[in-house]
Amino acid sequence: MSRVSIRFGKLVIVTYFLATACIVPTFAQTKRSPVAPSRERVEAIVREAYDKFRSDTSGKNADYIPYLAQVDSRLFGVAVVTTDNQVFELGDVKYSFSIQSISKVYTLAMAMEELGPDKVFDRIGLEPTGRAFNSVLAVVDMPSHTGNALVNAGAIATTSLISGQNEDEKWNKLLNFYSKVAGEKLSLIDEVYQSEAATNAGNKALAMLLAKYERIYADPFESVDIYTKQCSVGVTATQLARMGAVLANNGQNPATGEQVIKSGDVPYILATMMMAGLYDGSGGWAWHVGLPAKSGVGGGIVAIVPGKGAIAVFAPRLDEAGNSVKAQKVIHFVANKLDYNLYSPSSVGLK
Ligand code: DON
Repeated sequence: MSRVSIRFGKLVIVTYFLATACIVPTFAQTKRSPVAPSRERVEAIVREAYDKFRSDTSGKNADYIPYLAQVDSRLFGVAVVTTDNQVFELGDVKYSFSIQSISKVYTLAMAMEELGPDKVFDRIGLEPTGRAFNSVLAVVDMPSHTGNALVNAGAIATTSLISGQNEDEKWNKLLNFYSKVAGEKLSLIDEVYQSEAATNAGNKALAMLLAKYERIYADPFESVDIYTKQCSVGVTATQLARMGAVLANNGQNPATGEQVIKSGDVPYILATMMMAGLYDGSGGWAWHVGLPAKSGVGGGIVAIVPGKGAIAVFAPRLDEAGNSVKAQKVIHFVANKLDYNLYSPSSVGLK
């Protein structure tokens, strides 16, 4: 009897160790897609892309915001953050540039946190405008008038959804939220804010036009001012990649472990990025790259690879649509080599 129980005890112990040995790697894999490429491969491909496009001088800095025209257009930084918080960095990854339109993604996340996706979809909508990001005609023509949360009009309307007693409370709520997503404290680049606030008559006009259609949900000028501040938040390429990795990691910050965005909201955010993240360049981007991404006229682009990580590139020269030329080339190259395209069966391991 006692021999049986000893044997049984051994069996339990052996089974326990076997199970633990299996559980540990299985758990680790839930943090990262089982078909994610190895660290060495990601590093090698990102380095190859960096070297290949380093001396590309096509495009030009945004100049409708005076501050952006004088940013050194040779700056070039690439950062990757994976869902298990591995970080690869190359080039000017410590330089803080203005997040610009990439902020719109996180204001959308905050609006959904407060109102839920259905109300946000109802008040903002999600259709590509097929026009420039600051188009007045799109506001007039589109049935929703707002278009989507990533063009200026829809983004200002999204900012107007954020609750608060006054402008400062709303702005601080947004800045704190962005900081939680980045996993560290972010702040406003005051010179960018001053430069943009002095030259944003176009955005004020969009906000007033939305007011005519009753598609803005707080004072139009207050909303433009908060929106201008959110666009002037400084980020490094690494901070931006981590903000992207949160979306790749189901809304959980891979560095802090904090669930900063509801996992149920993530698909709506990624769908919005896929449809409109690169404005009237979004169709070509989906065709060639197949990853949800967002650009900013400050020169940043972040692309999300669900379950694997995010890549952020900063290079100030832009194309006609307002998207960094070098950032698009680097991300396209990396996504192609590493089978990241979400529409490709190889992205889930089918060859
Ligand atoms: O409102 C604007 O025009 C800028 N603060 C943001 C535009 C932007 O980043 C468009 N992006 N590619």
